[in-house]
Amino acid sequence: RRLAVFVSGGGSNFRAIHDAALGGEVNGDVVALVTDKPGCGGAEHARGNGIPVVVFPKSKSAPEGVSIDELLNALRELRVDFILLAGYLKLIPVELVQEYPKSILNIHPSLLPAFGGKGYYGLKVHKAVIASGARYSGPTVHFVDEHYDTGRTLAQRVVPVLANDTPEQLAARVLHEEHQVYVEAVAALCDDRIVWREDGVPLIRSHT
Ligand code: GRF
Repeated sequence: RRLAVFVSGGGSNFRAIHDAALGGEVNGDVVALVTDKPGCGGAEHARGNGIPVVVFPKSKSAPEGVSIDELLNALRELRVDFILLAGYLKLIPVELVQEYPKSILNIHPSLLPAFGGKGYYGLKVHKAVIASGARYSGPTVHFVDEHYDTGRTLAQRVVPVLANDTPEQLAARVLHEEHQVYVEAVAALCDDRIVWREDGVPLIRSHT
């Protein structure tokens, strides 16, 4: 299956997914990298691996950005099946959500619905988790709808919040799990191993 990955930063989740696709753990090919930050680490990784980079949206810092129609055309021309958000910080336009029903995933570094929504990104998430006294945190892979972080949860992993954790230490512990849970979720998506329960909850059917 053909994947487009959307990033705004370092792109470690993008690299984990790309490595899993090259290694065959994910039955997919990353055919496009979309970013609002053409100089970011994710875009550099794409350029170094011959993956086309599409800049979206257009902004003062990214004047070469394309319009939503140009983005949709590029994704259609590349015959993209699934869209994977991985550290992409802009809201996904409703046109994109409508064009890719049940086909857009995102990873968020907390156990949604806790610590999700606009304003909760990067270290802010982990600072809030520590301040709350929560004993556990972890990444959530969820389907994307037209709001921030409110789509159907598909997969989660749990890590302990340790007594003297700094936000950076918790972020690193969660990020390590992100790479694994996202690869598992994308592998299931590419293998059509996602079952939608009658109440609308998506479940991963395991390999075996
Ligand atoms: C990660 O914490 C991810 O959960 C969030 O963006 C952060 C950066 O991820 N969505 P990456 O290293 O750019 O993949």
